[in-house]
Amino acid sequence: MKDAAEKHPFLRACRREPTEYTPIWLMRQAGRYMKEYRVLRKKYSFLEMCKNPEIAVQVTLQPIEKFKLDAAIIFSDILIPLEPMGVAFEFAKGEGPVFHHPVREMKEIEKLRVIEPEEEVSFLVKAIGMVRKELGGKIPLIGFSGAPFTLASYVIEGGHSKNYIHTKGLMYQDRPAWDALMNKISDVLIRYLNVQIRAGVQAAQLFDSWVGCLSPTDYEEYVLPYSKRVIDGVDKSVPLIHFATSNSALLELMKRAGGDVIGVDWRVDIGEAWARMGYDVGIQGNLDPVVLLGSEGLIKKGVKRILDQVGGRPGHVFNLGHGILPNTPVENVAVLVEAVHEYSLKQK
Ligand code: CP3
Repeated sequence: MKDAAEKHPFLRACRREPTEYTPIWLMRQAGRYMKEYRVLRKKYSFLEMCKNPEIAVQVTLQPIEKFKLDAAIIFSDILIPLEPMGVAFEFAKGEGPVFHHPVREMKEIEKLRVIEPEEEVSFLVKAIGMVRKELGGKIPLIGFSGAPFTLASYVIEGGHSKNYIHTKGLMYQDRPAWDALMNKISDVLIRYLNVQIRAGVQAAQLFDSWVGCLSPTDYEEYVLPYSKRVIDGVDKSVPLIHFATSNSALLELMKRAGGDVIGVDWRVDIGEAWARMGYDVGIQGNLDPVVLLGSEGLIKKGVKRILDQVGGRPGHVFNLGHGILPNTPVENVAVLVEAVHEYSLKQK
């Protein structure tokens, strides 16, 4: 399903083609920092919102209507494919996701189902089609999934973790169980991303949010083969953004795992990160989300620093280094988007 958005600066930048300005979108651009989101969220639980296509479409479009963002991202969550796999969870108030039965043994891993996403997440397929129609080719739509390590960490830990003791425990001490779990999750993710692409997303992002807890050697041994398998298995008709946080020690390895664009957080200078990986891959990032809680001057200074480091080289997608924080003032997002467009236009 190609439309006018194919020529949009966001997709051009993903392909490392020159653009007249640097495109920007924000991870978690739909969410609690917006009043319109909070109003809907009073009526529905987060998961109800994800599973109701009409609501998901509305929330996807909320930030697009308010800011001059260069891409939409479908409203959903990385945990969505886990429930049909047989891993139940809930969002406990103030706690994030909680899994009451973490999966830590081979016999539990064997019970996990490799899902048919077309049927089992039909609400997502429907929402993607509806958003594409609403966008009418004005800007591209991004789909996403978690990466194998980040999803495995939720399943094994039973929620968010500080030290990943159970995840690394399984990885180090029960290699057959680790491989079995990573294989199953990878198989699901390939299907899950390809279903989104067939439904109409024009780019995809793989979120390996927590992989920065690993040493490069462990990443290479226990994770890279699976991330690579997922990326190799995803339809190449759309660009793939491979993102992680705390990943500056892993950049070269993440590039080897694959992706047209590598997403980096603020703990590394973006110019240096790109030079290290080489310019045959694009880069996304990397403003510290906390800068958005500061003044207009601070935001503009942060934008200028990043754009100066990149130096107008084709292949940069501007983003935060991680998701936007719920207490971000809405007007600061408008300042950021404007500043990126304005400064990069002058640069090129
Ligand atoms: O970017 C977007 O606007 C699309 C929507 C999106 C959400 N989650 C919505 C969401 C995306 C891309 C995600 C990805 C996601 N989900 C990640 C990877 C990105 C990252 O932040 O590292 C992770 C780790 C998750 C898992 C998850 N979902 C957690 C840990 C939480 C709880 C923490 C929190 O922020 O509340 C969620 C909930 C969640 N996902 C919310 C939203 C808008 C908040 C739900 C609410 O309204 O209470």
